[in-house]
Amino acid sequence: MSSTDIDAVTAAFTDRFGAQPAGVWAAPGRVNLIGEHTDYNDGFVMPFALAQAVTVAAGPRDDGRWSVTSLNQDQTKEFGPDDLTPGMDGWAAYVAGVVWALRGAGYPVTGADLVLTSDVPVGAGLSSSAALECAALAALADLSDLDVDPLERAKLARTCENEFVGAPTGLMDQAASTLCTLGHALFFDCRSFKTEQVHLALDEAGLELLVLDTQTPHALVDSEYAARRRSCEEAARLLGVAALRDVTDLDAALALLPEVEMQRRVRHVVTENARVLAAADVLRADRTTDLAPLLDASHASMRDDFEITVPTVDLAVATAKSAGALGARMTGGGFGGCIIALVAAGTADEVAEAIAAAFADAGYGRPTHFLGLPSAGASRLR
Ligand code: GLA
Repeated sequence: MSSTDIDAVTAAFTDRFGAQPAGVWAAPGRVNLIGEHTDYNDGFVMPFALAQAVTVAAGPRDDGRWSVTSLNQDQTKEFGPDDLTPGMDGWAAYVAGVVWALRGAGYPVTGADLVLTSDVPVGAGLSSSAALECAALAALADLSDLDVDPLERAKLARTCENEFVGAPTGLMDQAASTLCTLGHALFFDCRSFKTEQVHLALDEAGLELLVLDTQTPHALVDSEYAARRRSCEEAARLLGVAALRDVTDLDAALALLPEVEMQRRVRHVVTENARVLAAADVLRADRTTDLAPLLDASHASMRDDFEITVPTVDLAVATAKSAGALGARMTGGGFGGCIIALVAAGTADEVAEAIAAAFADAGYGRPTHFLGLPSAGASRLR
């Protein structure tokens, strides 16, 4: 979030309601450094929060209803307790679903007016929806004087996503948005919910992290994501384990599975979990450069085994590498969106330019890019 966003939502709130908001909150999008499609397999992930966030100004209202204005959409939606029906669509569902999840967990939520803006790119695999859920939740929990800790907030936001919006995601995005801290990646165990803040010493290592948005629409993401998840659950059932996290002998497990496609899915999840553990070790030892081969291997595994990359993403990763990136991978759920590349400090623009040139040659649209700066999780700003 930027101070401009804080001013924009505050001014819009005051304009609309003739009073200052009771407060301003923000929750960030995230980049996943490593650990893709491991969260719903009870595995490990390592995201960090971005500087890009959803910023919300809010104040209580006494008729027990909620109004939400999006400055990006230039729209206001209003709803009351009787309108909280799972399956609602549109951007306001992420706010209504948070009210629904809080109430479902027994928390009394006050009626409220919310005005929000976001600079998290939408549909880019950077968790713009989790940022929206977590920002709304932070505002509503504080306005209602609810004592909900950050992990519980993440779980409630995920309940909104899974049960109200209807996307069968894991907990990573919401955990990143509420639990990350400045300068760190979050090493998160999606079974025990144990967290460790690992210092992401990019500067010290003379590195930076390029985030490049391929601008490929996430056409298949919903159906394919759900299909991957089903396939993992079916494999765990066939292997007699609670989740793929529990596979300890990969070769033995693969020998038990009937189909090549399912074997590949399992191989991705099991090897990706191992890569997250290795990445945590590397960061703990301040060997940041050694992340690079793990990023490369993660990308190859997503491309060849989990089959969630697309030609634009593969071209971006291959070009990043040939333009000097130490390591690169797609980040997020897949089928488009962003790649990340670990590059020498001061070279991100050059690498991005090489990718833009390769995209132009291939007839693809121009990608956008920025530097991924490990930032703080959700908080109250005013
Ligand atoms: C999406 C989901 C997450 C996670 C990733 C893939 O971002 O919301 O829960 O499964 O995809 O790692």
